[in-house]
Amino acid sequence: MHHFAYRRGVSQANVLHAEEVDLSDLAAAVGTPFYCYSTATLERHYRVFVEAFAGIPDTLVCYSVKANSSLGVLATLGRAGAGMDVVSEGELRRALAVDVPPAKIVFSGVGKTRAEMAFALDRGIFAFNVESEPELRALSEVADARGAVARIAFRVNPDVDAKTHHKIATGKAENKFGVPFAEAPSLYGLAKELPGIEATGVHMHIGSQITDLSPFRNAFALLHELVGTLRAEGATIGFVNLGGGLGIPYRSDQPEPPRPADYARLVAEEVGDLGVRLLFEPGRMIAGNAGILVSRVLYVKHGASKTFTIVDAAMNDLMRPTLYEAYHEILPVTAPEPGTRTIVTDVAGPVCETGDYLALSRPLPELRAGDLISVMTAGAYGAVLASEYNSRLLVPEVLVAGDRYSVMRPRPSYDDMLAKERLPNWL
Ligand code: LLP
Repeated sequence: MHHFAYRRGVSQANVLHAEEVDLSDLAAAVGTPFYCYSTATLERHYRVFVEAFAGIPDTLVCYSVKANSSLGVLATLGRAGAGMDVVSEGELRRALAVDVPPAKIVFSGVGKTRAEMAFALDRGIFAFNVESEPELRALSEVADARGAVARIAFRVNPDVDAKTHHKIATGKAENKFGVPFAEAPSLYGLAKELPGIEATGVHMHIGSQITDLSPFRNAFALLHELVGTLRAEGATIGFVNLGGGLGIPYRSDQPEPPRPADYARLVAEEVGDLGVRLLFEPGRMIAGNAGILVSRVLYVKHGASKTFTIVDAAMNDLMRPTLYEAYHEILPVTAPEPGTRTIVTDVAGPVCETGDYLALSRPLPELRAGDLISVMTAGAYGAVLASEYNSRLLVPEVLVAGDRYSVMRPRPSYDDMLAKERLPNWL
């Protein structure tokens, strides 16, 4: 469910709108390519996720900032009540900049530096998700030196196959994430001895874009067992963080993935009796369908064996098709006239790489130079992964709310791009 739909525009044609904003008008005002996010969709997804857990007494939903860290997106979710899951001082500073209470922030990641730990401790975040023994010792030292105690959850690796793309599976033993399940009890024992640590939580995150609930069920059952073991050994476990990972629909021609309510039922069944505070770290589920990438067709090129629709957005603006073989639906911004031919085409950008494409062999209504397209479900892991590769300007981000819009990150100028660098003094 999202708020991008065709409506009659001023020209009477059916034009794709973001809420009440005509995307062809927006393209004329902002230029292309640009990302566009819907406030109504962000708020709705957050609400649906929270409400799915209404039957569970103590929950905290920490939006995973890495999915989309635009300040306007964070502020929208923060005002709706979301906590945040951050993985760097930069993300933490973003969350704090939009007044998310530190008590609603958790800090994940396998490579936190001591400086990042100190910064987070001084701000008083809720908890650290600790991923190794050396990290635990470093955190204890940093906390102790400041007269503080770090509340932590060990991120445990259950060695479960999340049945997702191999680059976004995190819960197998061969992945760098978390501490081995079997070593968890002795690590909680060690944590008790360390002066700067209070280990009262357990964390797990097995992967992303998970569309089959069975890996969650297997992992949560293991976690339930682990909490029993830890308690039997004298640990006090007051919170459990189940991570993120719930998949979203990218294609309208495929079965819908499980809904938050299905996931919530499973959570209640597997860990509902633990008597703990439950935390979640959804990213994609909140932001994915709340964003699109709008681009303009530059040329239609007829190759020897294929047609290439060359657009002004490229792999540097949206990496997902190249990086994860991801499928993103593509819609023409102006709905095609009845009787328009469907052709099969690659949709590719101007970057000088064969891997630069947004879609391969895609049936689409025939497009012409100057037409606008919308790449759907680009709100999560879209703009955050963008770069200036090929010295292309970083793509702007626009937030819509009803009939209003704001260019939250304007397109830089070429002077801005060059001004970020310094020549060595010997050149
Ligand atoms: N918590 C932790 C510890 C994570 O590592 C992640 C995502 C999340 C929560 C949020 O997961 P989500 O609910 O969004 O699935 N760039 C990739 C996805 C990378 C996910 C990284 N970790 C993509 O575009 O598919």
